[in-house]
Amino acid sequence: MEPRQIIEKLGQLAERYEAELGQASDEQAIRAGQAAYLGNKGEVTALQKLMKDIEPKARKDVGRALNQTKERISKATDKALGEINQRRGREYLDRHVDLTLPGRPPVGVGAMHPLSIVMYDIVDVFVSMGFDVATGPEIETDYYNFAALNFPQDHPARDMQDTLFIKEGETLLRTHTSPVQIRTMLRRPLPIQIVAPGAVYRRDDDPTHSPMFFQIEGLLVDEGVSFADLKGVLEAFIHEVFGKDVKLRFRPSFFPFTEPSAEVDIQCIACKGEGCRLCSQTGWLEVLGSGMVDPNVLQEVGVDSERYTGFAFGIGVDRIAMLRYEGISSIKLFYENDPRFLSSFRR
Ligand code: PHE
Repeated sequence: MEPRQIIEKLGQLAERYEAELGQASDEQAIRAGQAAYLGNKGEVTALQKLMKDIEPKARKDVGRALNQTKERISKATDKALGEINQRRGREYLDRHVDLTLPGRPPVGVGAMHPLSIVMYDIVDVFVSMGFDVATGPEIETDYYNFAALNFPQDHPARDMQDTLFIKEGETLLRTHTSPVQIRTMLRRPLPIQIVAPGAVYRRDDDPTHSPMFFQIEGLLVDEGVSFADLKGVLEAFIHEVFGKDVKLRFRPSFFPFTEPSAEVDIQCIACKGEGCRLCSQTGWLEVLGSGMVDPNVLQEVGVDSERYTGFAFGIGVDRIAMLRYEGISSIKLFYENDPRFLSSFRR
């Protein structure tokens, strides 16, 4: 073949290859097509083999045409492969990724425990009335839980509380938050105005009693504090939590550490006082214990009971929570921690 014919043929091969590439639908077809031109038995390779017979002065031109052809074929191949890759990517996205779907909500976000919600809400009400928050240990001594609170040794009230002792007569799980009254009066200067939320423990176990439950203690000690102040604060609290229309009553009661003592009932929120199962047909629900701090207690912690008076109260948080979230049949639900139950409350 003449050099001129070889060069012409090379040009035609490149053109034909480019045209054929347009038909190739996958990488395999492209690779096979490339081999048919540049492989050992390829058409371009066959022309290259003629080089050795070409007269020296024409070799340079044929050589340049050969290189140009090979480059054109390589470039066209790369471009075709790139396009196929891009198409594959798009097809993958179309098949597996729906960019119009909404984002996923974050998994496993926790919610506040219903008792925590109620506890925070109650504490907030008292904080807004000027009360500070105080705390004390759940493992207590007989002194703070009983003796300093005017419970005489062998007084039946100690049985009444069904104490869980750690060491009989010495250490115990506190049966109420009242020991925080003692700890606070020993530590803080007067006047004192605190609430103390926390867990308490008793040997009780039925649908309305759990061996662990929660109370919020209140204590206000100052000059000239009267029972009227106690009534005013508790009325404001009840109206804030249960609404302005809810009636309440102070029922005479007894606690060793308050004198006089009163339990506070609210009119049954289910039957509005008519009498139903929730209120055991009485029309009233007991929500807290309260009273004027007994002078014996003030003297025990070194407060001058001639000059200072005070009131105290203890609110049952579980009870308030069961009333607020009507339909909670058992106090146990608060302590089983079933996520389906817990996640239905929002602060
Ligand atoms: N500590 C009492 C109880 O657990 C409640 C109470 C607190 C009563 C403060 C009067 C004053 O039953």
